[in-house]
Amino acid sequence: MGLPQNFLVSSVTLLLAVAMAVNACPPSDREALLAFRAALNEPYLGIFNTWSGTDCCTKWYGVSCNPETKRVADVILRGESEDPIFEKAGRSGYMTGSISPSVCKLDSLTTLVLADWKDISGEIPSCITSLPNLRILDLIGNKISGQIPADIGKLSRLTVLNLADNRIAGALPPSIVNLNSLMHLELSNNKLSGEIPSDIGKLSMMSRALLSRNQLTGSIPSSIANIYRLADLDLSMNQITGSIPAQLGSMPVLSTLNLDSNQLSSEIPTSLLSNGGLSILNLSRNSLEGNLPDVFGPKTYFTQIDLSYNNLRGSIPKSLSSAKYIGHLDLSHNHLCGPIPDGSPFDHLEASSFANNDCLCGMPLRTC
Ligand SMILES: *[C@@H]1O[C@H](CO)[C@@H](O)[C@H](O)[C@H]1NC(C)=O
Repeated sequence: MGLPQNFLVSSVTLLLAVAMAVNACPPSDREALLAFRAALNEPYLGIFNTWSGTDCCTKWYGVSCNPETKRVADVILRGESEDPIFEKAGRSGYMTGSISPSVCKLDSLTTLVLADWKDISGEIPSCITSLPNLRILDLIGNKISGQIPADIGKLSRLTVLNLADNRIAGALPPSIVNLNSLMHLELSNNKLSGEIPSDIGKLSMMSRALLSRNQLTGSIPSSIANIYRLADLDLSMNQITGSIPAQLGSMPVLSTLNLDSNQLSSEIPTSLLSNGGLSILNLSRNSLEGNLPDVFGPKTYFTQIDLSYNNLRGSIPKSLSSAKYIGHLDLSHNHLCGPIPDGSPFDHLEASSFANNDCLCGMPLRTC
Protein backbone atom coordinates (compact mmCIF):
# COMPACT_ATOMS: atom_id res chain seq x y z
CA MET A 1 0.00 0.00 0.00
CA GLY A 2 1.59 3.30 -1.17
CA LEU A 3 1.29 6.73 0.34
CA PRO A 4 -1.43 8.94 -1.08
CA GLN A 5 -0.22 10.86 -4.12
CA ASN A 6 -1.03 14.32 -2.78
CA PHE A 7 0.88 13.63 0.44
CA LEU A 8 3.99 12.81 -1.60
CA VAL A 9 3.66 15.91 -3.76
CA SER A 10 3.26 18.24 -0.80
CA SER A 11 6.18 16.61 1.02
CA VAL A 12 8.45 17.12 -1.97
CA THR A 13 7.30 20.73 -2.31
CA LEU A 14 7.98 21.37 1.37
CA LEU A 15 11.43 19.77 1.17
CA LEU A 16 12.30 21.89 -1.86
CA ALA A 17 11.18 25.07 -0.11
CA VAL A 18 13.25 24.22 2.98
CA ALA A 19 16.26 23.36 0.84
CA MET A 20 16.06 26.66 -1.02
CA ALA A 21 15.72 28.70 2.15
CA VAL A 22 18.70 26.88 3.69
CA ASN A 23 20.72 27.56 0.55
CA ALA A 24 20.35 31.32 0.82
CA CYS A 25 21.84 33.62 3.42
CA PRO A 26 19.56 34.46 6.33
CA PRO A 27 17.54 37.67 5.77
CA SER A 28 19.19 39.19 8.85
CA ASP A 29 22.68 38.84 7.28
CA ARG A 30 21.37 40.27 4.02
CA GLU A 31 19.88 43.25 5.81
CA ALA A 32 23.11 43.84 7.75
CA LEU A 33 25.07 43.85 4.47
CA LEU A 34 22.63 46.26 2.85
CA ALA A 35 22.94 48.64 5.80
CA PHE A 36 26.76 48.31 5.57
CA ARG A 37 26.58 49.15 1.88
CA ALA A 38 24.29 52.11 2.49
CA ALA A 39 27.03 53.85 4.52
CA LEU A 40 29.56 53.51 1.67
CA ASN A 41 29.81 55.13 -1.74
CA GLU A 42 31.82 53.48 -4.51
CA PRO A 43 31.29 55.62 -7.61
CA TYR A 44 33.67 54.18 -10.23
CA LEU A 45 33.54 50.38 -10.36
CA GLY A 46 29.98 49.58 -9.41
CA ILE A 47 30.92 46.67 -7.18
CA PHE A 48 27.80 47.13 -5.09
CA ASN A 49 25.58 46.70 -8.13
CA THR A 50 26.14 42.98 -7.60
CA TRP A 51 24.65 43.25 -4.11
CA SER A 52 21.08 42.51 -5.14
CA GLY A 53 18.70 39.59 -4.91
CA THR A 54 17.81 37.58 -1.84
CA ASP A 55 20.83 35.28 -1.66
CA CYS A 56 23.80 37.31 -0.45
CA CYS A 57 25.94 34.14 -0.59
CA THR A 58 26.02 34.05 -4.37
CA LYS A 59 27.31 36.67 -6.76
CA TRP A 60 27.55 39.44 -4.19
CA TYR A 61 31.00 40.90 -4.96
CA GLY A 62 33.39 40.27 -2.07
CA VAL A 63 30.90 38.35 0.07
CA SER A 64 31.24 34.69 0.90
CA CYS A 65 29.39 32.43 3.26
CA ASN A 66 30.10 29.40 5.35
CA PRO A 67 28.92 26.60 3.02
CA GLU A 68 27.28 24.68 5.86
CA THR A 69 25.55 27.40 7.83
CA LYS A 70 25.06 29.86 4.93
CA ARG A 71 26.04 32.62 7.32
CA VAL A 72 28.17 35.45 5.91
CA ALA A 73 31.78 34.58 6.80
CA ASP A 74 33.94 36.92 4.73
CA VAL A 75 33.55 40.43 3.39
CA ILE A 76 36.66 41.14 1.33
CA LEU A 77 36.71 44.40 -0.62
CA ARG A 78 40.12 45.51 -1.87
CA GLY A 79 40.56 48.79 -3.72
CA GLU A 80 43.77 47.57 -5.31
CA SER A 81 43.52 44.15 -6.87
CA GLU A 82 44.05 42.13 -10.00
CA ASP A 83 40.33 41.60 -10.41
CA PRO A 84 39.16 42.25 -14.01
CA ILE A 85 36.62 44.75 -12.70
CA PHE A 86 39.55 47.14 -12.03
CA GLU A 87 41.16 46.53 -15.39
CA LYS A 88 37.85 47.22 -17.10
CA ALA A 89 37.45 50.51 -15.25
CA GLY A 90 41.13 51.35 -15.87
CA ARG A 91 41.65 52.61 -12.34
CA SER A 92 42.14 51.60 -8.74
CA GLY A 93 39.36 51.69 -6.22
CA TYR A 94 37.97 54.71 -4.48
CA MET A 95 35.28 54.81 -1.83
CA THR A 96 33.90 57.34 0.56
CA GLY A 97 31.60 56.87 3.52
CA SER A 98 32.18 54.98 6.74
CA ILE A 99 31.96 51.53 8.31
CA SER A 100 28.43 51.03 9.54
CA PRO A 101 28.02 49.40 12.97
CA SER A 102 25.50 47.12 11.23
CA VAL A 103 28.53 45.03 10.23
CA CYS A 104 28.53 43.82 13.83
CA LYS A 105 25.24 42.01 13.20
CA LEU A 106 27.15 39.61 10.95
CA ASP A 107 28.04 37.58 13.99
CA SER A 108 29.62 34.72 12.04
CA LEU A 109 32.06 37.06 10.31
CA THR A 110 35.64 35.78 10.23
CA THR A 111 37.21 38.23 7.76
CA LEU A 112 36.57 41.91 7.19
CA VAL A 113 38.81 43.47 4.57
CA LEU A 114 38.06 47.00 3.42
CA ALA A 115 41.50 47.90 2.10
CA ASP A 116 42.99 50.67 -0.01
CA TRP A 117 39.83 52.58 -0.83
CA LYS A 118 41.65 55.83 0.04
CA ASP A 119 38.76 57.84 1.42
CA ILE A 120 36.66 55.75 3.80
CA SER A 121 36.50 57.83 6.97
CA GLY A 122 34.79 57.74 10.34
CA GLU A 123 35.71 55.46 13.20
CA ILE A 124 36.03 51.72 13.63
CA PRO A 125 32.65 50.73 15.14
CA SER A 126 33.37 49.75 18.74
CA CYS A 127 30.91 46.85 18.46
CA ILE A 128 33.43 45.12 16.16
CA THR A 129 34.97 43.57 19.28
CA SER A 130 31.75 41.59 19.78
CA LEU A 131 32.41 39.47 16.66
CA PRO A 132 33.60 36.25 18.31
CA ASN A 133 34.98 34.60 15.17
CA LEU A 134 36.81 37.56 13.65
CA ARG A 135 40.24 36.44 12.45
CA ILE A 136 41.23 39.14 9.99
CA LEU A 137 40.52 42.86 10.30
CA ASP A 138 42.23 44.72 7.46
CA LEU A 139 41.31 48.37 6.91
CA ILE A 140 44.67 49.56 5.45
CA GLY A 141 44.80 52.60 3.22
CA ASN A 142 41.77 54.69 4.14
CA LYS A 143 41.14 57.79 6.25
CA ILE A 144 39.78 56.06 9.31
CA SER A 145 40.08 58.15 12.47
CA GLY A 146 39.20 57.73 16.12
CA GLN A 147 40.91 55.17 18.30
CA ILE A 148 41.50 51.44 18.35
CA PRO A 149 38.50 50.04 20.33
CA ALA A 150 39.48 49.80 24.01
CA ASP A 151 38.36 46.19 24.34
CA ILE A 152 40.09 44.98 21.14
CA GLY A 153 41.66 42.28 23.32
CA LYS A 154 38.30 40.45 23.33
CA LEU A 155 38.97 39.26 19.76
CA SER A 156 40.66 36.08 20.90
CA ARG A 157 40.80 34.60 17.40
CA LEU A 158 42.19 37.66 15.64
CA THR A 159 45.32 36.76 13.66
CA VAL A 160 45.67 39.90 11.51
CA LEU A 161 45.06 43.46 12.66
CA ASN A 162 46.02 45.79 9.84
CA LEU A 163 45.00 49.43 10.29
CA ALA A 164 48.08 50.91 8.57
CA ASP A 165 47.88 54.11 6.52
CA ASN A 166 44.91 55.68 8.26
CA ARG A 167 44.42 58.48 10.80
CA ILE A 168 43.97 56.48 13.95
CA ALA A 169 44.97 58.38 17.08
CA GLY A 170 45.21 57.74 20.79
CA ALA A 171 47.22 55.12 22.60
CA LEU A 172 47.54 51.41 21.95
CA PRO A 173 44.77 50.06 24.22
CA PRO A 174 46.23 48.02 27.10
CA SER A 175 43.92 45.12 26.19
CA ILE A 176 45.78 44.68 22.88
CA VAL A 177 48.25 42.37 24.63
CA ASN A 178 45.41 39.88 25.15
CA LEU A 179 45.13 39.12 21.42
CA ASN A 180 46.72 35.75 21.92
CA SER A 181 46.21 34.55 18.33
CA LEU A 182 47.64 37.70 16.77
CA MET A 183 50.32 37.08 14.14
CA HIS A 184 50.43 40.35 12.21
CA LEU A 185 50.06 43.74 13.87
CA GLU A 186 50.29 46.48 11.27
CA LEU A 187 49.61 50.01 12.47
CA SER A 188 52.19 52.04 10.51
CA ASN A 189 51.47 55.55 9.33
CA ASN A 190 48.77 56.65 11.77
CA LYS A 191 48.68 59.16 14.62
CA LEU A 192 49.13 56.75 17.48
CA SER A 193 50.69 58.23 20.60
CA GLY A 194 51.57 57.12 24.11
CA GLU A 195 53.80 54.23 25.07
CA ILE A 196 54.04 50.66 23.83
CA PRO A 197 52.46 48.49 26.59
CA SER A 198 55.25 47.04 28.73
CA ASP A 199 53.64 43.58 28.57
CA ILE A 200 53.56 43.51 24.74
CA GLY A 201 55.65 40.35 25.09
CA LYS A 202 52.39 38.50 25.85
CA LEU A 203 51.66 38.47 22.12
CA SER A 204 53.41 35.16 21.74
CA MET A 205 52.12 34.32 18.23
CA MET A 206 53.23 37.59 16.69
CA SER A 207 55.65 37.35 13.78
CA ARG A 208 55.33 40.87 12.41
CA ALA A 209 54.90 44.12 14.34
CA LEU A 210 54.91 47.22 12.17
CA LEU A 211 54.32 50.46 14.09
CA SER A 212 56.41 52.95 12.11
CA ARG A 213 55.40 56.53 11.35
CA ASN A 214 53.36 57.25 14.46
CA GLN A 215 54.01 59.43 17.52
CA LEU A 216 54.82 56.70 19.98
CA THR A 217 56.87 57.72 23.02
CA GLY A 218 58.49 55.93 25.94
CA SER A 219 61.05 53.20 25.63
CA ILE A 220 61.16 49.84 23.86
CA PRO A 221 59.75 47.28 26.32
CA SER A 222 62.28 44.51 26.87
CA SER A 223 59.39 42.00 26.99
CA ILE A 224 59.30 42.23 23.17
CA ALA A 225 62.30 39.90 23.22
CA ASN A 226 60.04 37.16 24.65
CA ILE A 227 58.11 36.99 21.39
CA TYR A 228 59.72 33.87 20.09
CA ARG A 229 58.29 34.08 16.55
CA LEU A 230 58.90 37.77 15.92
CA ALA A 231 60.72 38.13 12.60
CA ASP A 232 60.00 41.72 11.63
CA LEU A 233 59.92 44.63 14.08
CA ASP A 234 59.51 48.17 12.75
CA LEU A 235 59.24 51.03 15.24
CA SER A 236 60.88 53.60 12.97
CA MET A 237 59.83 57.25 12.76
CA ASN A 238 58.37 57.60 16.22
CA GLN A 239 59.60 59.46 19.32
CA ILE A 240 60.91 56.49 21.20
CA THR A 241 63.56 57.20 23.81
CA GLY A 242 65.84 55.21 26.08
CA SER A 243 68.29 52.51 25.16
CA ILE A 244 67.87 49.52 22.87
CA PRO A 245 67.17 46.46 25.06
CA ALA A 246 70.11 44.07 24.72
CA GLN A 247 67.63 41.16 24.75
CA LEU A 248 66.60 42.06 21.18
CA GLY A 249 69.94 40.63 20.10
CA SER A 250 69.07 37.15 21.28
CA MET A 251 65.73 36.77 19.53
CA PRO A 252 65.74 33.51 17.59
CA VAL A 253 64.08 34.51 14.30
CA LEU A 254 64.31 38.31 14.23
CA SER A 255 65.54 39.20 10.76
CA THR A 256 64.44 42.82 10.24
CA LEU A 257 64.80 45.48 12.93
CA ASN A 258 63.98 49.05 12.00
CA LEU A 259 64.36 51.55 14.84
CA ASP A 260 65.49 54.49 12.70
CA SER A 261 64.34 58.07 13.24
CA ASN A 262 63.65 57.94 16.95
CA GLN A 263 65.44 59.39 19.97
CA LEU A 264 67.25 56.28 21.12
CA SER A 265 70.38 56.84 23.17
CA SER A 266 73.19 54.88 24.87
CA GLU A 267 75.33 52.32 23.12
CA ILE A 268 74.34 49.79 20.49
CA PRO A 269 74.02 46.45 22.33
CA THR A 270 76.82 44.09 21.36
CA SER A 271 74.30 41.25 21.02
CA LEU A 272 72.52 43.05 18.20
CA LEU A 273 75.56 43.15 15.95
CA SER A 274 76.77 39.65 16.78
CA ASN A 275 73.32 38.11 16.10
CA GLY A 276 73.79 35.93 13.01
CA GLY A 277 70.10 35.92 12.05
CA LEU A 278 69.49 39.64 11.78
CA SER A 279 69.86 40.70 8.16
CA ILE A 280 68.31 44.17 8.04
CA LEU A 281 69.20 46.62 10.79
CA ASN A 282 68.38 50.31 10.59
CA LEU A 283 69.31 52.45 13.59
CA SER A 284 69.82 55.62 11.56
CA ARG A 285 68.86 59.04 12.94
CA ASN A 286 68.97 58.43 16.67
CA SER A 287 71.35 59.59 19.39
CA LEU A 288 73.29 56.38 19.76
CA GLU A 289 76.77 56.81 21.14
CA GLY A 290 79.88 54.92 22.12
CA ASN A 291 82.08 52.73 20.00
CA LEU A 292 81.02 50.19 17.42
CA PRO A 293 81.47 46.91 19.28
CA ASP A 294 84.15 44.62 17.89
CA VAL A 295 81.93 41.57 17.51
CA PHE A 296 81.76 40.90 13.79
CA GLY A 297 83.02 37.74 12.21
CA PRO A 298 82.44 35.03 9.61
CA LYS A 299 78.82 34.62 10.80
CA THR A 300 78.07 38.30 10.12
CA TYR A 301 75.61 38.52 7.24
CA PHE A 302 73.75 41.79 6.78
CA THR A 303 71.89 42.76 3.63
CA GLN A 304 71.45 46.26 5.08
CA ILE A 305 73.01 47.91 8.09
CA ASP A 306 72.39 51.61 8.50
CA LEU A 307 73.88 53.34 11.55
CA SER A 308 74.10 56.80 9.97
CA TYR A 309 73.24 60.07 11.77
CA ASN A 310 74.21 59.02 15.30
CA ASN A 311 77.02 59.97 17.66
CA LEU A 312 79.19 56.90 17.22
CA ARG A 313 82.86 57.41 18.08
CA GLY A 314 86.09 55.49 17.83
CA SER A 315 87.20 53.46 14.86
CA ILE A 316 85.53 50.92 12.61
CA PRO A 317 86.34 47.53 14.17
CA LYS A 318 88.71 45.40 12.08
CA SER A 319 86.50 42.36 12.62
CA LEU A 320 83.94 43.91 10.28
CA SER A 321 86.21 43.04 7.35
CA SER A 322 85.88 39.34 8.20
CA ALA A 323 82.10 39.47 7.73
CA LYS A 324 80.62 36.89 5.38
CA TYR A 325 78.52 39.50 3.62
CA ILE A 326 77.53 43.11 4.04
CA GLY A 327 75.24 44.47 1.35
CA HIS A 328 74.45 48.04 2.17
CA LEU A 329 76.45 49.69 4.98
CA ASP A 330 75.96 53.29 6.05
CA LEU A 331 78.14 54.74 8.80
CA SER A 332 77.93 58.33 7.56
CA HIS A 333 77.24 61.32 9.80
CA ASN A 334 78.88 60.02 12.98
CA HIS A 335 82.14 60.84 14.74
CA LEU A 336 84.17 57.85 13.62
CA CYS A 337 87.89 58.15 13.09
CA GLY A 338 90.82 56.10 11.82
CA PRO A 339 91.45 53.74 8.92
CA ILE A 340 88.61 51.99 7.08
CA PRO A 341 89.46 48.28 7.26
CA ASP A 342 90.04 46.53 3.98
CA GLY A 343 88.48 43.23 3.03
CA SER A 344 85.81 41.87 0.74
CA PRO A 345 82.78 43.39 2.53
CA PHE A 346 84.23 46.85 1.92
CA ASP A 347 85.18 46.40 -1.72
CA HIS A 348 81.85 47.52 -3.13
CA LEU A 349 81.11 50.33 -0.68
CA GLU A 350 81.12 53.92 -1.82
CA ALA A 351 82.47 57.01 -0.13
CA SER A 352 78.95 58.06 0.86
CA SER A 353 78.83 55.13 3.30
CA PHE A 354 81.57 56.83 5.35
CA ALA A 355 80.95 60.51 4.65
CA ASN A 356 80.70 63.16 7.34
CA ASN A 357 82.68 61.54 10.09
CA ASP A 358 85.50 63.12 12.10
CA CYS A 359 88.59 61.57 10.59
CA LEU A 360 88.01 58.34 8.69
CA CYS A 361 90.53 57.55 6.00
CA GLY A 362 91.53 54.90 3.48
CA MET A 363 89.59 53.47 0.56
CA PRO A 364 87.06 54.64 -0.63
CA LEU A 365 88.01 57.90 1.15
CA ARG A 366 91.36 59.74 1.04
CA THR A 367 94.45 57.73 1.91
CA CYS A 368 95.49 57.82 5.54
C1 LIG B 1 67.18 53.87 7.39
O1 LIG B 1 66.34 54.86 7.95
C2 LIG B 1 66.58 56.18 7.43
C3 LIG B 1 65.81 57.18 8.27
O2 LIG B 1 64.54 56.80 8.62
C4 LIG B 1 66.23 56.19 5.97
O3 LIG B 1 66.41 57.47 5.42
C5 LIG B 1 67.15 55.18 5.26
O4 LIG B 1 66.82 55.09 3.90
C6 LIG B 1 67.03 53.80 5.88
N1 LIG B 1 68.10 52.95 5.37
C7 LIG B 1 67.91 51.92 4.57
C8 LIG B 1 69.13 51.17 4.15
O5 LIG B 1 66.81 51.57 4.20
